[in-house]
Amino acid sequence: MAQSRNQDSGVGPLQHVPVMLGEAVEGLSVQPGGRYLDGTFGRGGHAREVLSRLGPDGCLLLMDRDPQAIAAAQAEFAGDPRVSIRHANFSSMAEWDRVAAGLDGVLLDLGVSSPQLDEAARGFSFMADAPLDMRMDTSRGESAADFLAQASEQEIAEVLWNFGEERHGRRIARAIVADREATPFTRTGQLAALIERVAGRREPGKHPATRSFQALRIRVNGELDALRQGLDAALDCLKPGGRLAVISFHSLEDRTVKLFVRDQSGRVQNSRRGPPVAAAPARLRAVGKARFPSSAEVAANPRSRSAVLRVAEKLSGEVAA
Ligand SMILES: C[S@@+](CC[C@H](N)C(=O)[O-])C[C@H]1O[C@@H](n2cnc3c(N)ncnc32)[C@H](O)[C@@H]1O
Repeated sequence: MAQSRNQDSGVGPLQHVPVMLGEAVEGLSVQPGGRYLDGTFGRGGHAREVLSRLGPDGCLLLMDRDPQAIAAAQAEFAGDPRVSIRHANFSSMAEWDRVAAGLDGVLLDLGVSSPQLDEAARGFSFMADAPLDMRMDTSRGESAADFLAQASEQEIAEVLWNFGEERHGRRIARAIVADREATPFTRTGQLAALIERVAGRREPGKHPATRSFQALRIRVNGELDALRQGLDAALDCLKPGGRLAVISFHSLEDRTVKLFVRDQSGRVQNSRRGPPVAAAPARLRAVGKARFPSSAEVAANPRSRSAVLRVAEKLSGEVAA
């Protein structure tokens, strides 16, 4: 089931507590002179830890698609000659000339940061009334309000089901399309109220808009396409022996990462019905199994509770499975 990152606040305003910090950075196996890319800078929790392990010849490349995250990176790291910063989607990492020399490690800590969730004006949260935006990259693209103004009922229902497993998706989509004739959906509060009206409060402790907000966010930001492209790009850009560490926060992301590592490890899941499938040459090996935050971390930072970390290593040559 697609589960969302909880919107309860585990930290102070506009801060981000890094999730599985020690485990993720250990997974990268940072070498002092290595070249690492953090594709999801956020507020730099993981980046700071990687940098603390680099010597003077090491190199840290920082990306984020959110201009506010990039401004935070510039403010803190622009003076460090080991650091380079780029405002872009990590799916385009291979286009960055700083990456051309090859990477020793790539970290992707997926989803949204606490500052994005907690700043009402970003429109990610149903907890406060604000413009219905939800774009991580506020400099381009269609907002959630734009999507809901133009999409067909069928399209809206598919997004709510595919990215949120919202079983009231069809009814919610129908109500959105009926209501938007009179009043376009431009505010988070307006949408949350409609969902509550249509779906009711059925899951105790969970706002009825949780699944729909997650689904719209994934659609507006093209998150699963970016992840698939980012994983392919990371594998191409890693040097042999280089590490990939990915932290996901819902089952759609984790499944994408898990299948990618499985497929690139030369392991094929043959179906009992179809003909046997030949394994492609292995390019990656999984490093250990999926890891989860400790109960102490979840208690200290409730937003870590749905995290899953997977680590893989690029193989030296193409190895037949
Ligand atoms: C969970 S936060 C990362 C937090 C960070 N590791 C820290 O400790 O502060 C996710 C960040 O990744 C960014 N992001 C998500 N998808 C992205 C993508 N496809 N390309 C670039 N940045 C992305 C978001 O804008 C957000 O700032």
